[in-house]
Amino acid sequence: MFYNKSIIYNIFMKILILAAGRSSRFNGACSKVLTKFWGVRVVDMLIARANNVGQTYIMVNENVDKAIKHNRKIVQDMNNYGTGAAVQQYVSNMEEDDLLVIPGDLPLLDEAAMQKVTNTPGDIVIGVMRMPEGAEQYGRIIMEGDHVKAIVEHRFHEEKTQFANTGVILIRKNALHLIKDLKKNSSGEIYLTDIVQLANQAGLQVGISSLLYNCVLGFNTVDELNQLLQLAQINWRNRAVESGAVFYDISKVYFSYDTKIEQGVVVEPNCYFGPGVVLKSGAYIKTFSVFSDCVVSGAVGPFAHIKSGSIAHGSQVGAFVEVSKSDVAQGAKIKHLAYIGNAKIGENSNVGAGVVVCNYDGKNKSETEIGKNVMVGANSSLIAPISIGDSAFLAAGGVYTKNIEEMEFAIARARQENKGKKQDV
Ligand code: UD1
Ligand code: CA
Repeated sequence: MFYNKSIIYNIFMKILILAAGRSSRFNGACSKVLTKFWGVRVVDMLIARANNVGQTYIMVNENVDKAIKHNRKIVQDMNNYGTGAAVQQYVSNMEEDDLLVIPGDLPLLDEAAMQKVTNTPGDIVIGVMRMPEGAEQYGRIIMEGDHVKAIVEHRFHEEKTQFANTGVILIRKNALHLIKDLKKNSSGEIYLTDIVQLANQAGLQVGISSLLYNCVLGFNTVDELNQLLQLAQINWRNRAVESGAVFYDISKVYFSYDTKIEQGVVVEPNCYFGPGVVLKSGAYIKTFSVFSDCVVSGAVGPFAHIKSGSIAHGSQVGAFVEVSKSDVAQGAKIKHLAYIGNAKIGENSNVGAGVVVCNYDGKNKSETEIGKNVMVGANSSLIAPISIGDSAFLAAGGVYTKNIEEMEFAIARARQENKGKKQDV
């Protein structure tokens, strides 16, 4: 639902994500690009989206280098600081292709906005937005008629202009040579934004691409991050309603940037979808359920936690059930108070209340396989690794440590003895 299929990947489009800043205005626990944004690090979200549009490179500094996995990383030399210095270092090592520069602190930026800038004519194209109210820290776009004269940082130009610089800037191949002429300014930094004046002096065309502010607001402080977290949910909810799913109260449902929802899904209030969730037609999500990294076509909740795996069509995962790295097949039922980890539950099997798959011995996780039409009696523990054949019946309250064949009846508990009236014992 959230990924617009009209986005076309262009192998000749290079995208440089700037993630080497010092995060000096951000009093968070780590660099702002490593901050989690609804469960995904800002930088990982940008990489995933940029990868759909072109070939991605990323500028890092020594502090974030190890934390970012990417095979086209460049470590910035911090003796030359600023967005312009970052792009200079990239250009000095790369072949000449069109280059889209993206600041690493724009968590709302999506493929459509990137593509809009790359489709706009101009040797240089500046992604602009109308100047946001209240926020002071954006570069001012100085216009002369419909011509962009310069971009001036807020600290040198307090007065607000109609448009703000989003930091998303396209430099076409024929204008890349200008980058080397960017110079340190009075703040001791090299600003990428100075490229506008260089382009004007060289008689090159500077285009502007107007972007919606709810896709391009950035954050420098924790306060701004908190505002963007809210704004992202508004964006994601707007897109979720377009999917044709039914939401009893969408204002109480939380999505991730990549949540995919098919038509015919029903979602009750107070549910949280972390990264990597696909809700397929037929999924019915009951209140207070939490999901990540899973594909769901069956009924889940209330109060369920699906951490990763799949819940097939016609299956039911009920109240206070946690499913982790497990696949629940069609028609299977795990309706109350269970923990299912590293397991496969076969078609039409029934896992009773209070069943626990004991998948962890303190060091390793082990697998459990339950066949089709199995009945696992309530309050049983299955000590993994273990496999249960089709149509087996496991009596309630057992601690099962050995494999069970198909059609077998197994019981694994001490026999009850009734020893007479209390006063005689
Ligand atoms: C920048 C723009 C400003 C624009 C704003 C939009 C410049 C000079 N200013 O300001 O016009 O309105 O973004 O959000 O470009 N970074 C590096 N290496 C560096 C310095 C920064 O990779 O040497 C990275 C940072 O990690 C960050 C991004 O570049 O992700 C932008 O840097 P930041 O310091 O946040 O720029 P702003 O002051 O917000
Ligand atoms: Ca910024």
